[in-house]
Amino acid sequence: MPVMGIDIGGTGIKGAPVDTDAGRLTRERVRLLTPEPSEPQAVIAVVRDVLAEFADTEGPVGITFPGVIRDGIVRTAANVDKSWIDLDADALFTATLGRPVTMVNDADAAGVAEMRFGAGAGQRGTVLMLTFGTGIGSALFVDGRLVPNTELGHLELDGHEAERRASAVARETHDLSWEKWAARVQDYLRHVEMLFSPSLIIIGGGISKKPEKFLPFIKIRADLVPARLHNDAGIVGAAMLVTGD
Ligand code: BGC
Repeated sequence: MPVMGIDIGGTGIKGAPVDTDAGRLTRERVRLLTPEPSEPQAVIAVVRDVLAEFADTEGPVGITFPGVIRDGIVRTAANVDKSWIDLDADALFTATLGRPVTMVNDADAAGVAEMRFGAGAGQRGTVLMLTFGTGIGSALFVDGRLVPNTELGHLELDGHEAERRASAVARETHDLSWEKWAARVQDYLRHVEMLFSPSLIIIGGGISKKPEKFLPFIKIRADLVPARLHNDAGIVGAAMLVTGD
C-alpha cells in the first residue's frame, strides 16, 4: 500500500502517495502554494486540500516541516509563521485530518530518502545532505544513521545567516549570476567542511536538477554531488519515516 507523504515548504506544499519499497511516487504529485501568512490553521487547510486529491489513500501520513521538530513538537520556524513554535504539530494534524500524522524536519526527510534511494545509497562515514530552497536545510548522517535536527543553514556567512546569503531564493532575490551564487555556496560549504569533515556532501532542493549551472564553480575537499530524487525527496522521506523504513 502506498503511504502519503506531504512536504511543507516556505513556498509550496507538495504531496503524493509513495511506494516506500521502491522510493518513488506512485502518482503525479500535487503542489499548492503555501498560504501567507503561513499560520497553522491556514497551512493545515492546504494540507487537507492536497490530501483530498488522493482521497482513495488511507492510513498514516508523513509530513515534513521547515523547522526543528522534536517529539512531534515544532521548535523553530525560520521561514514560516512564528505561531508554529511550541505547537504539538503531530497531535494537531492528527486531530484535524483524522489520520495519524508523523511530522519531521524537511531536510531530514529528504536526506533519509536520498541515503536510501539516491546519491547517498550505501555511503558510510559522515555524509551531509544540504537542501537549497527558501532556506538551507541540513541532514547529517553517520554510517547511514541520521543525527536529527541539525540546523546548518543558520551558520554565519559574511556576517549574515548563511541561508539569507546562499539559499536558492537568495540567488533570485539578490539577482546573482550562477557563478556569483556558487562562490557564496563554496564559502558556505568550506565552513561546513571545516566543522564536520564529511566524505560526501549531497546538494538537494530544486537546484539539484541543474547541477551543471553551479557545481563546476565549486571546489571543496569532500565529494560533492547533486541529489537524485530532486524535489521529491522530502515527500518520499516523509512517507518512509511513517512506515519506519
Ligand atoms: C530551517 C530548517 C529547514 C530549512 C529548509 C531553515 O530555515 O531552520 O529547519 O530544514 O530552513 O527548509
